[in-house]
Amino acid sequence: MTIVNIDDMREAAKRRLPRLFFDYIDGGSFSESTLRENRRGYDAWAIEQRVLASARVPDLSTQVLGKRQALPFMLAPVGFLGLYRGGGEILAARAARAAEIPFCLSTFSVASIETLAREAGGDLQFQLYMLDDRGLTDELLAAATAAGVSTLHLTVDCTVTAIRERDVRNKFRSARRPTPAMLLSMLSKPAWFLDLLSHGLPSVEVLNRHPEFGKGALEQAVNLSRRIDRTVSWAEVDWLRARWPGKLVIKGVLSSADALTARDAGADAVVVSNHGGRQLDGVASTISVLPEVVEKVGPDFEVLLDGGIRRGADIVKALALGASGVLLGRAYAFALAAGGEAGVARAVEILATELSITLALMGLGAIDELKAAGTSVLRRP
Ligand SMILES: Cc1cc2nc3c(=O)[nH]c(=O)nc-3n(C[C@H](O)[C@H](O)[C@H](O)COP(=O)(O)O)c2cc1C
Repeated sequence: MTIVNIDDMREAAKRRLPRLFFDYIDGGSFSESTLRENRRGYDAWAIEQRVLASARVPDLSTQVLGKRQALPFMLAPVGFLGLYRGGGEILAARAARAAEIPFCLSTFSVASIETLAREAGGDLQFQLYMLDDRGLTDELLAAATAAGVSTLHLTVDCTVTAIRERDVRNKFRSARRPTPAMLLSMLSKPAWFLDLLSHGLPSVEVLNRHPEFGKGALEQAVNLSRRIDRTVSWAEVDWLRARWPGKLVIKGVLSSADALTARDAGADAVVVSNHGGRQLDGVASTISVLPEVVEKVGPDFEVLLDGGIRRGADIVKALALGASGVLLGRAYAFALAAGGEAGVARAVEILATELSITLALMGLGAIDELKAAGTSVLRRP
């Protein structure tokens, strides 16, 4: 099929992936209302067109978390990339490195951060779930430090995992071993199956030293989920701040009050995120919350955003509303499933092209001009 946009990537992923993995990526929690809202939220803003104003090819580079990156977006932590494609985390990180954008590795990954540093390199970031076993948490932090990770994202919106009803029906994330129905679904996608098997049976590499988590990615993931600290509080952010000398980002903030607390706790930034509509269903879209958060924390504290980004124009709106950068989740996860490293590279290229065209037609010569112009380039439709 011809892939023109990110929605096409989703279709291509749907064709290639066993149903349970497609549903896991695509789905949200409960009624999936926040999942839909994340997309709808972008329609509340229109972009201003300016003519005969700029002939230059827009400069898409910008500063995020103290570093210049080639594009104003990065790849968000997405669990289990190595199950959608053999070596998935490595392939995505390689595509990110080639595009000169950061890649953030999820705690729930097949490849370890150590493997990623060796096999992919680039600007690697790490996403941490605070575990009830501080020793293991420390181990993850030490591995991130050894791998040269610059930025740690502490995800705070997932202390209790919401019910994702598609996963319940598919028994994904509850079964410790593939059920007969799962196996049937996997065998129905032979291209996916053969690719995965060629990389060996997947397991969560960092847990292979810990036999108490069991064997194989499914069982290890079920056991790791149980170890996420449900009682995590701002005291643990202090604990982490004292241990982590690099940039610390609090991911999953959806109110200005929490953003202010994060700033006061010494975090370097927050990600306005509702976990892509996968956690608390019924909360507002991230783009609708962004202006209030940006206003309250003030210009000296960075605010990033994720959720529902499928178009270059979505990124333009987020940056105009004050985000210093954005994270892509499903947009690149689908692309990875559909086309591996080349798929992710293509998704990045699609969004970069859309961004470039959008900026040019807005009469803007650079992402930094867009950031400086702020909401003056937007209007309510
Ligand atoms: C399949 C999938 C797995 C995810 N796993 C994680 C994770 O392990 N840790 C985390 O902090 N966020 C995780 N997220 C959330 C993303 O980091 C991001 O917040 C979200 O995908 C953004 O929304 P979008 O998919 O609409 O772009 C996951 C998202 C998806 C779709």
